[in-house]
Amino acid sequence: MDNRSIGVFDSGIGGLTMVREMMNIMPFESVVYFGDTGRVPYGTKSYETVKKYAESDIRFLMQFDLKMIIAACGTVSSIALGEIEGNYNIPVFGVCEAAAKAAAKNTKNGRIGIIGTGATIKSDFYARLIGKIDKEIYTISRACPLFVPLVENGYSDSDAALLIARDYLLPLMEDGVDTIILGCTHYPHLENTIKKVAGDNVKLINPSQETAVYIKEYLKTNEMEAEKSEKGNYRFYASDDIFSFADLGSKFLDRKIDKDIFKVDIEKYV
Ligand code: DGL
Repeated sequence: MDNRSIGVFDSGIGGLTMVREMMNIMPFESVVYFGDTGRVPYGTKSYETVKKYAESDIRFLMQFDLKMIIAACGTVSSIALGEIEGNYNIPVFGVCEAAAKAAAKNTKNGRIGIIGTGATIKSDFYARLIGKIDKEIYTISRACPLFVPLVENGYSDSDAALLIARDYLLPLMEDGVDTIILGCTHYPHLENTIKKVAGDNVKLINPSQETAVYIKEYLKTNEMEAEKSEKGNYRFYASDDIFSFADLGSKFLDRKIDKDIFKVDIEKYV
């Protein structure tokens, strides 16, 4: 039994897709969330910058009494976490491993598509993880940089999103993938649009969902679950305007958040 909170961080509000999954399947766990809205996006930045940002995000979270930290950000998880995750006295998890495993398990024809930010795709991390699971599996990756602004501006189900998705996903469909990893926090919000392009026979893997399931199991196995007497509480920190965080965050979470949001000066933790 461990009632300490779980720290979750992301480059901005996108990581709330992870918190949403956690609220659904482990409602007794408390969460301290940090969204680096002042320095977003990470997906266009270099490895050195993302690593430096991730370290300061974790440094900020480490001042709370946490039992673990999850990097909900696809970019951090794929390019920076391997280097730094062992530097702390609590476990630090990313979202790629569980997603790669789920994709490898799901594919019937051994052809997996991976989509993510430019930095995630450039890192080739997902392809390497899948290669370690089964070297016979073929992967094709594509960066989809316009997806993040489409989601953040409320265009997830628009004709514009469909047009862009068709273009981005064309090489994956031509290659006959039967599984696609939605390798960025925002992409699950485009699920309907992506399904229209990929069709019902292509399985979309949501890394937040897969990771939440993995974490739930991890907590159970290691006797680290919170007591199931009252629901967990949630505190949100952002490095920029907390009102826009509340606004967009409520959409990401599918429930209204208008309290327990605090502004943080992340430069103090660099
Ligand atoms: N959260 C980022 C990710 O999952 C997307 C936004 C960004 O580029 O920072 O990769």
